[in-house]
Amino acid sequence: MPSTHLHPPTYPQAYSQALREPEIFWAEQAAGLAWHTPPTTILQQDADGNYQWFADGRLNTAWLAVDAHVLAGRGEQTALIYDSPVTHGKARISYRELAGRVAQCAGMLRDLGVNKGDRVIIYMPMIPEAVVAMLACARLGAVHCVVFGGFAAHELAVRIDDAQADVILTASCGVEVDRIIPYKPLVDAAINEAAHPVRHCVVYQRPQCRAELYSDRDLEWQRALANAEPAEAVPVLAGDPLYILYTSGTTGKSKGVVRDHGGHAVAMRYSMRVVYDMQPGDVFWAASDVGWVVGHSYIVYGPLLAGCTTVLYEGKPVRTPDAGAFWRVCAEYGVKALFAAPTAFRAIRKEDPQAALAHAADLSRLERLYLAGERLDPPTWAWLEEHFKRPIIDHWWQTETGWAIAANPAGYGLQAAKMGSATYPMPGFEVAILDDEGLPVAAGAQGNIALKMPLPPGCLTGIWGNPARFREGYLNVFPGYYQSGDAGYLDSDGYLFVMGRTDDIINVAGHRLSTGEMEEVLGAHSAVAECAVIGIPDELKGELPLGLVVLKNEVAIDPDTLSAELVAMVRRDIGALACFKGALIVKRLPKTRSGKILRRIMRQMAAGESFSVPSTIDDPACLDELAAQLGRADR
Ligand code: COA
Ligand code: AMP
Repeated sequence: MPSTHLHPPTYPQAYSQALREPEIFWAEQAAGLAWHTPPTTILQQDADGNYQWFADGRLNTAWLAVDAHVLAGRGEQTALIYDSPVTHGKARISYRELAGRVAQCAGMLRDLGVNKGDRVIIYMPMIPEAVVAMLACARLGAVHCVVFGGFAAHELAVRIDDAQADVILTASCGVEVDRIIPYKPLVDAAINEAAHPVRHCVVYQRPQCRAELYSDRDLEWQRALANAEPAEAVPVLAGDPLYILYTSGTTGKSKGVVRDHGGHAVAMRYSMRVVYDMQPGDVFWAASDVGWVVGHSYIVYGPLLAGCTTVLYEGKPVRTPDAGAFWRVCAEYGVKALFAAPTAFRAIRKEDPQAALAHAADLSRLERLYLAGERLDPPTWAWLEEHFKRPIIDHWWQTETGWAIAANPAGYGLQAAKMGSATYPMPGFEVAILDDEGLPVAAGAQGNIALKMPLPPGCLTGIWGNPARFREGYLNVFPGYYQSGDAGYLDSDGYLFVMGRTDDIINVAGHRLSTGEMEEVLGAHSAVAECAVIGIPDELKGELPLGLVVLKNEVAIDPDTLSAELVAMVRRDIGALACFKGALIVKRLPKTRSGKILRRIMRQMAAGESFSVPSTIDDPACLDELAAQLGRADR
């Protein structure tokens, strides 16, 4: 097995070496992986200026995540614990068993004509088959594209078309707290809507609800798998795509973040040791969903590449059955580090303010709590500190980076924490705070958080099918830097504080959503002339979307009816996860003289924050009208 010894041994040494000698630093981290062909080129730039890590290295990520541990004698160790309070199901899958299931599933995919480079959509709930499906794609060198099960058919169709996916792997249903959600009708609707033809749809039949299979295109997972022979792992180049993960951008169209094999494997293994201080055999639990980046990195690839035991939890922090669910899982499986979104702890705190259920559980093996996905608000931090008396680690990252840009590096020894800060940049990330002209600001001053290029291994290599969007959206804004889209500041001690997005992305219960996408849906209503969607503060979910709509002339519609219709449209086109609960009819939207809607002002107004009126505003009186109306919305 690779050594778990960290070199250089301290955070300052590692940080400075990664900046001064990135190739030496990352070559050393890469040497811990059992490459098929070790890389000789560590970092290179192509003719278009794109950086690539470990270009001539060959590996297979799924083999490294599973088979390598069996060969190293850890076959009987539990790789994956499945715990599903919504179905009362539990299972432990060893590395040996997982290796067999992944190879068999890869054989099933190969029988369906899936080859290296082909895209496969995975639209599945939190069941072991979702993890097996991801790893099976990786084993063949096929590119998986997991779509969160809460997304509506339209969102799935958009992804089928963008990824040009020929095969969909799904399950007959998802199980929510209060209902069963049949997936097959959603998948059928998406396949019908998509322009790209889907050749096969493989459905894992769950006992809670069986799906109807209609044509030769539809196959039952269990049957197709039984007929398949295990497939061998296909070595791929480090720069080949491992997966596409769609995330919200500032336009209505979500973007497919592409992650490579080589840089990703190196970054996952490094971050498991440095950020989470996990050793082989430790139990790690990221309470997220495989549909999000946290699920990709820290339910599936990170823990498995590190030889840990990962927990796949099909439930909620509350109501499955109560606010003690997280503590029950931690105690039952001896979880060493728990990673969840702040919103999950806000939900628990609301139902169990004194954390009585946590105090009653045996949390002796739980060493640290990790939070990310949204800003960790000070009250939640304080509550966790008071009741857990363990390190509470806020860390900041994005779908694009795949691992923490800033964190408290437990593997090098924890640094003193500051409330509200994600602590220090991780080795390989050079954080700069720039003003809108791209000039660095002084310590303590807020600005755009940018990352000096090149980004370390594991970060996005591009936007699927759209290199221009990658350059224009991230790289051209501040030449030489990646623009994160977040605002914040570095204090005089070098601690990073992340304060919120600078664009039209909102964060609802740790889910990143585009207001532009919701605006497209509202704009399609026959009564709506124009609209804006803003995020308003919410105690539980951080932010909630609110629609502000201007009616077409001469349209008369009851506001409650309109609001209900718009809510239904957002649920239909985006999904319930958007938590779009209503729209308000307004007379006008504040705009600049050039016609740009002043969303930031509306957001500040709705949040009760102070704001300055830009000199370019078209009609300042419009703000008074709106303030009155937003006041009503708040009540
Ligand atoms: N499939 C289908 N529908 C889903 C879904 C899924 N996988 N996940 C959520 N939904 C639906 C819910 O059923 C709900 O529908 P409803 O409006 O009809 O009730 C809606 O989407 C909103 O769901 P959710 O955000 O889960 O709200 P909630 O009120 O049920 O629960 C929390 C509140 C805070 C407990 C919950 O949001 C939560 O667990 N948040 C943590 C999220 C998280 O881990 N994010 C990780 C990113 S790192
Ligand atoms: P996602 O790509 O879904 O992981 O969302 C990334 C966005 O979530 C970031 O750009 C931030 O706006 C926000 N975010 C994630 N983690 C943190 C954090 N620790 N503190 C503040 N914001 C965060």
